[in-house]
Amino acid sequence: MTVIDQIFPDDIADAGVTGHPRILALANQKGGVGKTTTAINLGTALAAIGERVLIVDLDPQGNASTGLGIDRRNRNCSTYDVLIGEAPLRDAVVPTAVPRLHIASSTMDLSGLELELGSTRDRAFRLRDAIAGLNNNVSPDSDYTYVLIDCPPSLNLLTVNAMAASDAILVPLQCEFFALEGLSQLLQTVEQVRSTLNPGLSIHGIVLTMFDARNNLSNQVVADVRQFMGKKFTTP
Ligand SMILES: Nc1ncnc2c1ncn2[C@@H]1O[C@H](COP(=O)(O)OP(=O)(O)OP(=O)(O)O)[C@@H](O)[C@H]1O
Ligand SMILES: [Mg+2]
Repeated sequence: MTVIDQIFPDDIADAGVTGHPRILALANQKGGVGKTTTAINLGTALAAIGERVLIVDLDPQGNASTGLGIDRRNRNCSTYDVLIGEAPLRDAVVPTAVPRLHIASSTMDLSGLELELGSTRDRAFRLRDAIAGLNNNVSPDSDYTYVLIDCPPSLNLLTVNAMAASDAILVPLQCEFFALEGLSQLLQTVEQVRSTLNPGLSIHGIVLTMFDARNNLSNQVVADVRQFMGKKFTTP
């Protein structure tokens, strides 16, 4: 059994069977907790075991795109163009050096999206609708089995779009002093999205990042998260 099997037994059973990708959002409004690193590493690991993975960079910082080697000059079509409604998601996709791992990269333009969309009625569903057409009219060996959405460090319209589009949320949580601060606000937002925009949304779990077993603080964070979340978390 691989590490991925242990983390995602349900997903592996689901992915690919229905023809729809399994959609997971890496979300935490705290900055620097490992969302992007987890998206890249998980995407690479899933691709290594044969899954066809698309990472959607939904952060104006574009760290996932840069981390996967996509030069800013090669981001002619980005997730901004997709969410603003000017391009289908497939147009923003580029391959990475990792076989079966592709990315829809982002640009700084994304930071203005919330203002540009204003109170458009479908503004929270832009990403969901874009992903819905992702596997249409493609050969069975080029459809995606996983979509991983890298969220910005904020509970803004971009993160709400990610939550509205996802099957589940994965929350990277850094093992540091303020780890649990903000977690209840995040879980509250997930609850709100579930009751309004996306009843199918679940919390897949908490992924503790930057865990150091030699450090008492790391072990204290593990104990606190276990108490707070029950089984919904995964130790590294
Ligand atoms: N598991 C890990 N172990 C050690 N370092 C890590 C780990 N995960 C991430 N890092 C480091 O922590 C820093 C922040 O990681 P990352 O950019 O993935 O966080 P983020 O949550 O995506 O940040 P942001 O909120 O700015 O998007 C990076 O320097 C990264 O290399
Ligand atoms: Mg990031």
